[in-house]
Amino acid sequence: MKVLFIGTGVITYAHADGLKLIGSEPSACYDIFKPSAERFAKTYGCEAIDDYKEYLDKERPDYVLICTPPGVRLEYMEEVMSRGIPLYIEKPIATNMEDAIKMQEMAEKYKVPIMVNFVHCYRPAYEQMYKLVKDGVLGDPINVFSHRFGQGAGFRGRNMAASWRTNPKLVCGMTIESLSHDITMMTALCGDFKTVAANVKATVDSLPTFDTNSAISMEIAKGGIATISASWSSDIAFSMRGYVGTKGTAIVRGGGQFDLEDCIVKTDDMPYEQVTNYHDTYDNTLAQGMANAHKHFQDALTTGSEIRTPLESGIAALKVSLAALKSDKEKVVVTL
Ligand SMILES: NC(=O)c1ccc[n+]([C@@H]2O[C@H](COP(=O)([O-])OP(=O)(O)OC[C@H]3O[C@@H](n4cnc5c(N)ncnc54)[C@H](O)[C@@H]3O)[C@@H](O)[C@H]2O)c1
Repeated sequence: MKVLFIGTGVITYAHADGLKLIGSEPSACYDIFKPSAERFAKTYGCEAIDDYKEYLDKERPDYVLICTPPGVRLEYMEEVMSRGIPLYIEKPIATNMEDAIKMQEMAEKYKVPIMVNFVHCYRPAYEQMYKLVKDGVLGDPINVFSHRFGQGAGFRGRNMAASWRTNPKLVCGMTIESLSHDITMMTALCGDFKTVAANVKATVDSLPTFDTNSAISMEIAKGGIATISASWSSDIAFSMRGYVGTKGTAIVRGGGQFDLEDCIVKTDDMPYEQVTNYHDTYDNTLAQGMANAHKHFQDALTTGSEIRTPLESGIAALKVSLAALKSDKEKVVVTL
Protein backbone atom coordinates (compact mmCIF):
# COMPACT_ATOMS: atom_id res chain seq x y z
CA MET A 1 0.00 0.00 0.00
CA LYS A 2 1.08 3.56 -0.68
CA VAL A 3 1.56 5.39 2.66
CA LEU A 4 2.46 9.07 3.01
CA PHE A 5 4.19 10.00 6.28
CA ILE A 6 3.56 13.51 7.64
CA GLY A 7 5.99 14.31 10.48
CA THR A 8 9.20 12.28 10.46
CA GLY A 9 10.39 12.26 14.09
CA VAL A 10 11.54 9.45 16.34
CA ILE A 11 8.41 7.29 16.29
CA THR A 12 8.13 7.23 12.50
CA TYR A 13 11.19 4.99 12.27
CA ALA A 14 9.35 2.28 14.23
CA HIS A 15 6.35 2.72 11.90
CA ALA A 16 8.52 2.34 8.81
CA ASP A 17 10.28 -0.72 10.28
CA GLY A 18 6.86 -2.18 11.07
CA LEU A 19 5.56 -1.53 7.56
CA LYS A 20 8.57 -3.35 6.14
CA LEU A 21 7.65 -6.44 8.17
CA ILE A 22 4.30 -6.64 6.36
CA GLY A 23 5.78 -6.01 2.92
CA SER A 24 4.76 -2.34 2.83
CA GLU A 25 6.85 0.85 2.97
CA PRO A 26 6.59 4.63 3.21
CA SER A 27 5.99 5.96 -0.30
CA ALA A 28 6.90 9.56 0.55
CA CYS A 29 7.38 11.79 3.58
CA TYR A 30 6.84 15.41 4.56
CA ASP A 31 8.08 17.38 7.56
CA ILE A 32 7.99 21.11 8.25
CA PHE A 33 11.68 20.74 9.06
CA LYS A 34 13.07 19.52 5.71
CA PRO A 35 16.32 17.95 7.09
CA SER A 36 14.18 15.65 9.24
CA ALA A 37 12.22 14.48 6.17
CA GLU A 38 15.44 14.08 4.18
CA ARG A 39 17.05 11.96 6.88
CA PHE A 40 13.99 9.73 7.04
CA ALA A 41 13.76 9.53 3.22
CA LYS A 42 17.41 8.52 2.99
CA THR A 43 16.94 5.78 5.60
CA TYR A 44 13.91 4.24 3.88
CA GLY A 45 14.59 5.08 0.25
CA CYS A 46 11.46 7.17 -0.24
CA GLU A 47 10.90 10.71 -1.49
CA ALA A 48 10.99 13.78 0.83
CA ILE A 49 8.32 16.03 -0.65
CA ASP A 50 7.83 19.81 -0.36
CA ASP A 51 4.14 20.02 -1.27
CA TYR A 52 2.07 17.39 0.50
CA LYS A 53 -1.23 18.71 -0.92
CA GLU A 54 0.03 18.24 -4.46
CA TYR A 55 1.17 14.73 -3.51
CA LEU A 56 -2.28 13.91 -2.11
CA ASP A 57 -3.94 15.08 -5.33
CA LYS A 58 -1.54 13.46 -7.77
CA GLU A 59 -0.51 10.25 -6.03
CA ARG A 60 -3.57 9.52 -3.89
CA PRO A 61 -1.87 7.41 -1.18
CA ASP A 62 -3.87 4.49 0.27
CA TYR A 63 -3.58 6.20 3.65
CA VAL A 64 -1.67 8.95 5.42
CA LEU A 65 0.20 8.52 8.70
CA ILE A 66 0.29 11.73 10.77
CA CYS A 67 3.06 11.80 13.38
CA THR A 68 3.33 15.54 14.02
CA PRO A 69 3.15 16.75 17.64
CA PRO A 70 -0.44 16.43 18.95
CA GLY A 71 -0.99 20.22 18.93
CA VAL A 72 -0.41 20.49 15.16
CA ARG A 73 -2.64 17.97 13.40
CA LEU A 74 -5.95 19.63 12.47
CA GLU A 75 -4.87 21.23 9.19
CA TYR A 76 -3.25 18.03 7.94
CA MET A 77 -6.25 15.97 8.96
CA GLU A 78 -8.64 18.22 7.07
CA GLU A 79 -6.49 18.20 3.91
CA VAL A 80 -6.31 14.39 3.98
CA MET A 81 -9.89 13.63 4.99
CA SER A 82 -11.46 16.17 2.64
CA ARG A 83 -9.86 14.24 -0.22
CA GLY A 84 -11.48 11.02 1.01
CA ILE A 85 -8.15 9.46 2.01
CA PRO A 86 -8.00 7.23 5.15
CA LEU A 87 -6.00 8.42 8.10
CA TYR A 88 -3.73 6.79 10.65
CA ILE A 89 -2.75 9.18 13.45
CA GLU A 90 -0.42 8.98 16.40
CA LYS A 91 -1.73 9.22 19.94
CA PRO A 92 -2.67 11.34 21.80
CA ILE A 93 -5.09 12.66 19.21
CA ALA A 94 -4.96 16.19 20.69
CA THR A 95 -4.18 18.06 23.89
CA ASN A 96 -7.60 19.67 24.38
CA MET A 97 -11.27 18.89 23.77
CA GLU A 98 -11.74 21.79 21.34
CA ASP A 99 -9.38 20.13 18.84
CA ALA A 100 -10.87 16.70 19.56
CA ILE A 101 -14.38 17.98 18.80
CA LYS A 102 -13.18 19.52 15.52
CA MET A 103 -11.67 16.14 14.61
CA GLN A 104 -14.93 14.40 15.44
CA GLU A 105 -16.85 16.88 13.27
CA MET A 106 -14.44 16.29 10.37
CA ALA A 107 -14.80 12.53 10.80
CA GLU A 108 -18.60 12.84 10.65
CA LYS A 109 -18.38 15.10 7.60
CA TYR A 110 -15.84 13.18 5.52
CA LYS A 111 -16.52 9.63 6.78
CA VAL A 112 -13.06 8.20 6.05
CA PRO A 113 -11.62 5.32 8.11
CA ILE A 114 -9.42 6.63 10.96
CA MET A 115 -7.17 4.63 13.24
CA VAL A 116 -5.27 5.95 16.28
CA ASN A 117 -1.91 4.31 16.92
CA PHE A 118 -2.53 2.75 20.30
CA VAL A 119 0.10 0.26 19.24
CA HIS A 120 0.30 -1.65 22.52
CA CYS A 121 -3.25 -2.91 21.95
CA TYR A 122 -1.84 -4.93 19.04
CA ARG A 123 1.02 -6.63 20.90
CA PRO A 124 0.64 -10.34 21.68
CA ALA A 125 0.76 -10.41 25.50
CA TYR A 126 -1.93 -7.73 25.73
CA GLU A 127 -3.95 -9.40 22.99
CA GLN A 128 -3.96 -12.63 25.01
CA MET A 129 -5.42 -10.79 28.01
CA TYR A 130 -7.87 -8.89 25.77
CA LYS A 131 -9.12 -12.12 24.18
CA LEU A 132 -9.61 -13.81 27.58
CA VAL A 133 -11.73 -10.86 28.70
CA LYS A 134 -13.72 -10.66 25.44
CA ASP A 135 -14.39 -14.42 25.53
CA GLY A 136 -15.74 -14.07 29.09
CA VAL A 137 -13.06 -16.36 30.57
CA LEU A 138 -12.15 -13.87 33.31
CA GLY A 139 -15.71 -12.73 34.06
CA ASP A 140 -16.80 -9.19 34.88
CA PRO A 141 -14.25 -6.60 36.00
CA ILE A 142 -13.51 -6.23 39.72
CA ASN A 143 -10.16 -4.43 39.62
CA VAL A 144 -8.40 -3.31 36.45
CA PHE A 145 -4.98 -1.68 36.73
CA SER A 146 -1.93 -0.29 35.01
CA HIS A 147 1.28 0.38 36.93
CA ARG A 148 4.22 1.63 34.87
CA PHE A 149 7.41 3.29 35.95
CA GLY A 150 10.52 4.39 34.09
CA GLN A 151 12.18 7.13 32.03
CA GLY A 152 14.31 8.34 34.96
CA ALA A 153 16.67 11.28 35.25
CA GLY A 154 16.07 12.70 31.75
CA PHE A 155 12.46 13.54 32.59
CA ARG A 156 13.04 14.28 36.28
CA GLY A 157 15.74 16.94 36.10
CA ARG A 158 15.54 20.70 36.19
CA ASN A 159 15.36 21.13 32.41
CA MET A 160 14.66 19.03 29.36
CA ALA A 161 16.10 19.11 25.86
CA ALA A 162 14.24 21.42 23.44
CA SER A 163 11.40 19.73 21.54
CA TRP A 164 7.64 20.14 21.12
CA ARG A 165 7.27 18.58 24.55
CA THR A 166 9.13 21.56 26.06
CA ASN A 167 7.46 24.22 23.88
CA PRO A 168 4.99 26.01 26.19
CA LYS A 169 2.44 26.26 23.33
CA LEU A 170 2.47 22.54 22.54
CA VAL A 171 3.44 21.11 25.93
CA CYS A 172 1.67 17.89 26.80
CA GLY A 173 2.63 15.96 29.91
CA MET A 174 2.56 12.28 30.68
CA THR A 175 -1.12 12.17 31.72
CA ILE A 176 -2.26 13.19 28.23
CA GLU A 177 0.58 11.96 26.04
CA SER A 178 1.50 8.62 27.46
CA LEU A 179 -1.36 7.53 29.71
CA SER A 180 -3.58 7.65 26.61
CA HIS A 181 -2.12 4.19 25.95
CA ASP A 182 -2.99 2.82 29.40
CA ILE A 183 -6.47 4.35 29.42
CA THR A 184 -7.24 2.87 26.00
CA MET A 185 -5.89 -0.56 26.92
CA MET A 186 -8.00 -0.55 30.09
CA THR A 187 -11.15 0.79 28.41
CA ALA A 188 -10.95 -2.00 25.85
CA LEU A 189 -10.99 -4.49 28.76
CA CYS A 190 -13.64 -3.03 31.05
CA GLY A 191 -15.57 -0.38 29.12
CA ASP A 192 -16.00 3.29 30.02
CA PHE A 193 -15.23 4.92 33.34
CA LYS A 194 -17.81 6.72 35.48
CA THR A 195 -15.65 8.86 37.78
CA VAL A 196 -11.99 9.94 37.92
CA ALA A 197 -9.98 11.09 40.96
CA ALA A 198 -6.29 11.88 40.58
CA ASN A 199 -3.15 13.35 42.01
CA VAL A 200 -0.62 14.53 39.45
CA LYS A 201 2.91 15.82 39.93
CA ALA A 202 5.30 17.80 37.72
CA THR A 203 9.02 17.43 38.34
CA VAL A 204 10.73 19.52 35.66
CA ASP A 205 11.34 22.99 37.18
CA SER A 206 11.37 24.77 33.82
CA LEU A 207 8.05 23.19 32.79
CA PRO A 208 5.48 23.34 35.60
CA THR A 209 2.66 22.43 33.16
CA PHE A 210 4.47 19.25 32.10
CA ASP A 211 3.32 16.50 34.49
CA THR A 212 5.50 13.44 34.90
CA ASN A 213 3.77 11.44 37.65
CA SER A 214 0.14 10.38 38.08
CA ALA A 215 -1.95 8.39 40.52
CA ILE A 216 -5.45 7.90 39.13
CA SER A 217 -8.39 6.07 40.66
CA MET A 218 -11.52 5.39 38.61
CA GLU A 219 -14.93 3.75 38.93
CA ILE A 220 -15.78 1.48 36.01
CA ALA A 221 -19.22 2.37 34.58
CA LYS A 222 -20.44 -1.25 34.58
CA GLY A 223 -19.01 -1.92 38.06
CA GLY A 224 -15.58 -2.44 39.55
CA ILE A 225 -12.63 -0.16 40.18
CA ALA A 226 -9.57 0.82 38.17
CA THR A 227 -6.21 2.43 38.97
CA ILE A 228 -3.27 3.84 37.05
CA SER A 229 -0.02 4.65 38.80
CA ALA A 230 2.69 5.95 36.54
CA SER A 231 6.02 7.71 36.74
CA TRP A 232 8.37 9.28 34.24
CA SER A 233 10.82 9.92 37.11
CA SER A 234 11.74 6.43 38.15
CA ASP A 235 15.30 5.19 37.73
CA ILE A 236 13.96 1.66 37.96
CA ALA A 237 11.65 0.61 35.15
CA PHE A 238 8.86 -1.94 35.26
CA SER A 239 5.26 -2.35 34.27
CA MET A 240 2.32 -4.48 35.27
CA ARG A 241 -1.13 -4.25 33.70
CA GLY A 242 -3.94 -6.51 34.70
CA TYR A 243 -7.55 -7.53 34.94
CA VAL A 244 -8.95 -9.08 38.10
CA GLY A 245 -12.33 -10.48 37.15
CA THR A 246 -15.13 -12.45 38.77
CA LYS A 247 -13.84 -15.72 37.22
CA GLY A 248 -10.09 -15.20 36.93
CA THR A 249 -7.09 -12.90 36.64
CA ALA A 250 -4.63 -12.00 33.90
CA ILE A 251 -1.54 -9.84 34.28
CA VAL A 252 0.84 -8.62 31.58
CA ARG A 253 4.30 -7.87 32.95
CA GLY A 254 7.50 -6.34 31.69
CA GLY A 255 10.88 -4.99 32.72
CA GLY A 256 10.17 -1.53 31.22
CA GLN A 257 7.19 0.82 30.96
CA PHE A 258 6.15 -0.65 27.64
CA ASP A 259 7.79 -4.05 27.77
CA LEU A 260 4.93 -6.55 27.45
CA GLU A 261 7.03 -9.62 28.07
CA ASP A 262 4.67 -12.18 29.49
CA CYS A 263 1.05 -12.84 30.31
CA ILE A 264 0.21 -14.73 33.48
CA VAL A 265 -3.26 -16.24 33.84
CA LYS A 266 -5.16 -18.03 36.60
CA THR A 267 -8.87 -18.79 36.52
CA ASP A 268 -11.10 -20.56 39.03
CA ASP A 269 -10.88 -23.70 36.90
CA MET A 270 -7.08 -23.84 36.61
CA PRO A 271 -5.01 -25.63 39.26
CA TYR A 272 -1.95 -23.41 38.67
CA GLU A 273 -1.04 -20.08 37.09
CA GLN A 274 -0.02 -20.34 33.47
CA VAL A 275 2.71 -18.04 32.13
CA THR A 276 3.17 -17.38 28.41
CA ASN A 277 6.43 -15.62 27.54
CA TYR A 278 6.44 -13.35 24.49
CA HIS A 279 9.91 -11.74 24.90
CA ASP A 280 8.32 -8.55 23.60
CA THR A 281 10.21 -5.43 24.68
CA TYR A 282 9.82 -1.82 23.56
CA ASP A 283 13.41 -1.48 22.40
CA ASN A 284 13.69 -4.75 20.53
CA THR A 285 10.27 -5.68 19.19
CA LEU A 286 8.15 -2.51 18.96
CA ALA A 287 8.39 -2.68 15.16
CA GLN A 288 6.46 -5.97 15.28
CA GLY A 289 3.70 -4.24 17.27
CA MET A 290 3.65 -1.48 14.64
CA ALA A 291 3.47 -4.15 11.95
CA ASN A 292 0.48 -5.77 13.67
CA ALA A 293 -1.26 -2.40 14.04
CA HIS A 294 -0.71 -1.35 10.40
CA LYS A 295 -1.81 -4.82 9.24
CA HIS A 296 -5.00 -4.39 11.32
CA PHE A 297 -5.65 -1.04 9.59
CA GLN A 298 -4.78 -2.30 6.12
CA ASP A 299 -7.12 -5.28 6.61
CA ALA A 300 -9.87 -2.87 7.68
CA LEU A 301 -9.29 -0.81 4.53
CA THR A 302 -9.39 -3.82 2.23
CA THR A 303 -12.11 -5.92 3.89
CA GLY A 304 -14.12 -3.33 5.84
CA SER A 305 -13.37 -5.09 9.15
CA GLU A 306 -13.78 -3.13 12.38
CA ILE A 307 -10.97 -0.83 13.56
CA ARG A 308 -10.27 -1.61 17.22
CA THR A 309 -8.73 1.81 18.00
CA PRO A 310 -10.75 4.34 15.96
CA LEU A 311 -10.82 8.11 16.50
CA GLU A 312 -13.45 7.60 19.24
CA SER A 313 -10.92 5.64 21.33
CA GLY A 314 -8.55 8.63 21.15
CA ILE A 315 -11.33 11.00 22.19
CA ALA A 316 -12.36 8.74 25.08
CA ALA A 317 -8.76 8.54 26.33
CA LEU A 318 -8.32 12.31 26.12
CA LYS A 319 -11.51 12.86 28.18
CA VAL A 320 -10.14 10.65 30.96
CA SER A 321 -6.71 12.36 30.88
CA LEU A 322 -8.30 15.81 31.05
CA ALA A 323 -10.59 14.65 33.88
CA ALA A 324 -7.53 13.43 35.82
CA LEU A 325 -5.79 16.80 35.38
CA LYS A 326 -8.98 18.63 36.44
CA SER A 327 -9.37 16.37 39.47
CA ASP A 328 -5.82 17.13 40.58
CA LYS A 329 -6.12 20.87 39.98
CA GLU A 330 -9.50 21.37 41.62
CA LYS A 331 -9.21 18.58 44.19
CA VAL A 332 -12.53 17.08 43.12
CA VAL A 333 -13.80 13.74 41.87
CA VAL A 334 -14.77 14.27 38.22
CA THR A 335 -17.85 12.53 36.83
CA LEU A 336 -17.50 11.71 33.14
N1 LIG B 1 2.62 5.07 19.79
C1 LIG B 1 3.77 5.20 20.45
O1 LIG B 1 4.24 4.25 21.07
C2 LIG B 1 4.49 6.53 20.44
C3 LIG B 1 5.79 6.63 20.91
C4 LIG B 1 6.42 7.88 20.84
C5 LIG B 1 5.75 8.98 20.35
N2 LIG B 1 4.45 8.85 19.94
C6 LIG B 1 3.67 10.01 19.48
O2 LIG B 1 4.10 10.39 18.17
C7 LIG B 1 3.98 11.80 18.02
C8 LIG B 1 5.34 12.35 17.60
O3 LIG B 1 6.28 12.03 18.62
P1 LIG B 1 7.82 11.88 18.32
O4 LIG B 1 8.42 11.30 19.55
O5 LIG B 1 8.06 11.19 17.04
O6 LIG B 1 8.22 13.42 18.22
P2 LIG B 1 9.50 14.06 17.50
O7 LIG B 1 9.71 15.37 18.17
O8 LIG B 1 10.62 13.09 17.45
O9 LIG B 1 9.00 14.29 16.01
C9 LIG B 1 8.03 15.24 15.62
C10 LIG B 1 8.27 15.57 14.15
O10 LIG B 1 7.21 16.44 13.71
C11 LIG B 1 7.78 17.50 12.98
N3 LIG B 1 6.86 18.62 13.03
C12 LIG B 1 6.67 19.50 14.04
N4 LIG B 1 5.72 20.39 13.72
C13 LIG B 1 5.30 20.06 12.47
C14 LIG B 1 4.35 20.61 11.60
N5 LIG B 1 3.59 21.67 11.93
N6 LIG B 1 4.19 20.03 10.39
C15 LIG B 1 4.92 18.95 10.02
N7 LIG B 1 5.85 18.38 10.83
C16 LIG B 1 6.04 18.94 12.04
C17 LIG B 1 9.12 17.77 13.62
O11 LIG B 1 10.00 18.47 12.73
C18 LIG B 1 9.60 16.36 13.92
O12 LIG B 1 10.30 15.79 12.82
C19 LIG B 1 3.48 12.33 19.37
O13 LIG B 1 2.09 12.47 19.33
C20 LIG B 1 3.86 11.25 20.35
O14 LIG B 1 3.03 11.18 21.49
C21 LIG B 1 3.83 7.66 19.96
